[in-house]
Amino acid sequence: MVHRIAVIPGDGIGKEVTAEAVKILEALGGVVLHHLPWGADHYLATGETIPPNGYDTLRSFDAILVGALGDPRVPDNRHARDILLGTRFELDLYVNYRPVRLLDDRLCPLKGRTRADVNFLVIRENTEGLYVGVGGRFKAGTPDEVAVQEEINTYKGVHRIIRHAFEFARAHGIGSVCMTDKSNAMTHGHALWQRVFHELQADYPDVQGTHLYIDALAMLLVQNPGQFQVIVTNNLFGDIITDIGGALQGGLGMAASGNLHPGRTSMFEPVHGSAPPLAGKDVANPVGAILSVALMLETLGRTDEAQRIERAVEAAVHAQETTRDIGGILGTRAAGDAILRRL
Ligand code: NAD
Ligand code: IPM
Ligand code: MN
Repeated sequence: MVHRIAVIPGDGIGKEVTAEAVKILEALGGVVLHHLPWGADHYLATGETIPPNGYDTLRSFDAILVGALGDPRVPDNRHARDILLGTRFELDLYVNYRPVRLLDDRLCPLKGRTRADVNFLVIRENTEGLYVGVGGRFKAGTPDEVAVQEEINTYKGVHRIIRHAFEFARAHGIGSVCMTDKSNAMTHGHALWQRVFHELQADYPDVQGTHLYIDALAMLLVQNPGQFQVIVTNNLFGDIITDIGGALQGGLGMAASGNLHPGRTSMFEPVHGSAPPLAGKDVANPVGAILSVALMLETLGRTDEAQRIERAVEAAVHAQETTRDIGGILGTRAAGDAILRRL
C-alpha cells in the first residue's frame, strides 16, 4: 500500500525538522511525498498564503505533514492562519490529538517524577472556540479602541470532541476522562461544556468522568501529572496545556500531534513552532516531528512502522544521541540520523 503524503515544511525550524521526518518516511518506503512550498517566503514573494484550490489539494492526499508556520516578517501571522488554522477548519480536523509521554526519566523537569508519572493524552477541540476569528476592532489604533474576539462553542462541536475522548478511553481500556473548562467564569460558553459532559457521562458508565477548572488543572499538571490519563478541553486551553505537556516531556521539541477527522485526510505536526532564534543553526530537536510521523502512520493503519519509529526514537534518546536541548551534543541532522540508524 502506497500512501500519498503532502509535506508543508513551512517556516524557520519547521523546514529543518521536517527534513528529518521525511528521511524517516523515505527510509520506511510505501509513501509518495509531495512537497508544497507554502509558508512565509512564498507569501512574501507571491502575496499568496494558500492557493485558491489549496484545501481541495490537501484533501486529495492520504495525510499531511507540517513543520511549523510563523515568521517575524509576517507580524499578523496571516499565512499561518490560512495554512495551519485554515486547514484545521476547512478539512474539519476537529480532534487535536496530543500525547504527553516522557521517554526518559532524565528529561522530566519535575523533581522525583518518572515515566510512570507523565503518560497522558490531551484531546483538544480544534475547529472552534476562540480561534474562529469572530470579532473585530473598532477605532483601531486610537485611545478609544474596542477589540472584540468571541469564543464560539457549538453543541455539535463540544459533543463530538467530548464523545471522541470517551470513545478513545473506552477503546483503549482507559479508566478516566478529565474535562477541563472555566465554567465558573465563562458562564455561558462553558456551561455548554458542562451540559454535554454530563449528558455523555451517562453513556459511558465504564469510564469515570472527572472535571477540573483549567487553573487548577494547570497547577496539578506540575504538581502531580500522574493522575491524568485523558484530558479533553477547548481549543485555547488545549493549546496552552500542551506546551506545559511539552515541558513535561523534556521540552517543546519532543512533543508530537495529529489534527484528525477520523476517516478523512488528517494533518500531523510537532507541537512546537518555527522558533526563529533557532532557525538555520542546525540545533532544533527533530523528535517531535519524527514522532508526528509515527502518529501519521498509526492513523493510516501502519501500526508496526509507527512502533518501530517510537522504539528508534526512544533508543536514541536513551543513548543521549540527541540535540542539546535534551542533553546531547548533536545537531538536528545528526540527531535525525541517530534515529534513522536505529530504525
Ligand atoms: P516556538 O514553539 O516556536 O518556540 C518556543 C521555544 O521553544 C524556542 O525558542 C525554543 O527554545 C523551544 N523550542 C521549540 N521547538 C524546539 C525544537 N524543535 N528544538 C529545540 N527547542 C525548541 O514558539 P514561539 O517562539 O512562541 O513561536 C514562534 C513562531 O512559531 C510564532 O510565529 C508562532 O506563531 C509560531 N508557532 C507555530 C506553530 C505551528 O506551526 N504549529 C506552533 C507554535 C508556534
Ligand atoms: C499550535 C500553535 C498554533 C495554535 C498557532 C501557531 C496558531 O501554537 O499548534 O499549538 O495556537 O494552535
Ligand atoms: Mn501551541
